[in-house]
Formats: sequence, structure tokens, C-alpha cells
Amino acid sequence: MLKKEDIQYLRDKVLEKTGIDLAYYKEKQLQRRLPFIMSRAGAQNVEEYVELLDKDPQVLEDFKNRFAINVSEFFRNPERYEDLKNKILPELMKGTGLVLKIWSAGCSVGSEPYSLAMILEEMPHHKPYRIWATDIDEDALDKAKEGVYSEDFICSVPPLYLEKYFQPLGEGKYAVVPRLKRRIVFEKHDLLQDEVKETFALVVCRNVVIYFEDEAKRMAFEKMSNALQEGGYLWIGSTERIADPSSLGLRYVLPFFYQKGR
Ligand SMILES: C[S@@+](CC[C@H](N)C(=O)[O-])C[C@H]1O[C@@H](n2cnc3c(N)ncnc32)[C@H](O)[C@@H]1O
Repeated sequence: MLKKEDIQYLRDKVLEKTGIDLAYYKEKQLQRRLPFIMSRAGAQNVEEYVELLDKDPQVLEDFKNRFAINVSEFFRNPERYEDLKNKILPELMKGTGLVLKIWSAGCSVGSEPYSLAMILEEMPHHKPYRIWATDIDEDALDKAKEGVYSEDFICSVPPLYLEKYFQPLGEGKYAVVPRLKRRIVFEKHDLLQDEVKETFALVVCRNVVIYFEDEAKRMAFEKMSNALQEGGYLWIGSTERIADPSSLGLRYVLPFFYQKGR
């Protein structure tokens, strides 16, 4: 168990080296991840770890990879994808604007934006669409851009989609087809610290803010609400809720979906 002063001491160094501000993350998340990360690096205490962070680029890399937990899967909570397909997207398709713009915030290794793209491709007469997929973790983003997954990882992809949107590469590996990849721009972006310059019809941010302190959570939701077009939707994770949506200009419409304005 780390002392508060230890975390504070680490915070400055980590912020300087990685741009990640530990102050935004829940103490429970810090207590769970930091001792594990430090012991993997072979450090006995925070001072030793900070020294290693300074002189060993591999330790720094390891921190970035292990701090943000990238657990993700294709079509996570499939019943929510059904709501998206049957209730949310048909309405968004009718909206004005030539291109449907979607932001997948905290996209991890890409399973979320690729799942969204498959759902959109399957909609009859769908509008052109574009997905901005962001994360703070560059390794996760590299994996997402590559779009190559193991058989185990894609087991939740329906067989019909697997056939249409993945190319078998042999040895149990599958690559996402270029047609889906072209719709998605992957970019490094910190939900808590970086600007958002566009607005979107749909913002998807699932299982990301669970690690944030209440204030950071609110800040993130506010940023997402500001990034939504009037009438647009915010889709959050199935263990999350927004405490006071109306104060953010949002209205609860369906489990885990909120609408801007109206
Ligand atoms: C558990 S994964 C969720 C992936 C996907 N959204 C899903 O539901 O399957 C959480 C992701 O949030 C990212 N993340 C954590 N803090 C972030 C921040 N401040 N800005 C952007 N992404 C962040 C992590 O790097 C990680 O890839």
C-alpha cells in the first residue's frame, strides 16, 4: 500500500515524463496498479522507481502500457449494440449533415470502433460515416491501427461479420479489411487534458471513466457533452452512470444512452 506522499511524489515525475496526471485517477486504481508496476520494474520504493523512470526508457514504456488498463472486446455488451443499431442509429441517420461523425473515446486496441463500423456498414442505406478513435495509450493505438487480432480475441464477432470484415492471415490471426479501416482515424488524445475541436452525432466512451475521480469524471462527461451536436447521443459503459445529466445538457433516454439537448 502506497502512502499519499508517495503518490504525490510520483505524480510530478509521471506527469513530466508521460503527460498522464495521476491526480485524476481514483485512489483505488492507483493503489491497485502502481505497486504492481513498481515491483515489475524491480523497485523497492517510490524513490527507486522515480530513478528508474529517469534513466531507463523501458521502465517508462512499461508504465504507460500497464497503467491504463486496455481490457476490451468486440461487441462488448451485445444487447447495447442492439439498442444502438435499432433505436439510436436510425434516428441519427435521418439527421442533417452529409457525414455521420462518431467519436470513440478510450478506444483501446480498436475493438470498439471496428465494432461500430461493422454495425454501420450493415445498416441499409447508411450515410457516409467517419469515426475518430482516441486513447492515451500509444501501444494500444498501434495495435488498433494494425487491426490484426487473434482468434480468441475475435470470438465475440458474429460469424457473418467475421466472414465479411476480416481476412484470415493463417496461424489463428485475422486482419480487419481495409474498407473498415478507411473509416477510422486513430489518434492519441487524453480525454482529460486535450482539446476536442469538432462536434459529433455520437460519442462512445465506455469503461474509461470508471478509473477517474468524481471531479475528473464530471470534467470528462462535460467535455463529451460539449463535443456533441444538438440531438446527438452519448453512450457510456454498462457499469457507469451520469449523476446529474441535465446539468451537462444531457437527457437519459435508454440504459447507458444520453441525448444532448431537446
Ligand atoms: C477498459 S479500456 C475500454 C476500451 C473500450 N472503450 C471498451 O469499452 O471496450 C479503457 C481505455 O481507456 C483509456 N484511457 C484511460 N485514461 C484515459 C484518458 N485520460 N484519455 C483517453 N483514454 C484513456 C485506456 O488507455 C484504455 O485503453
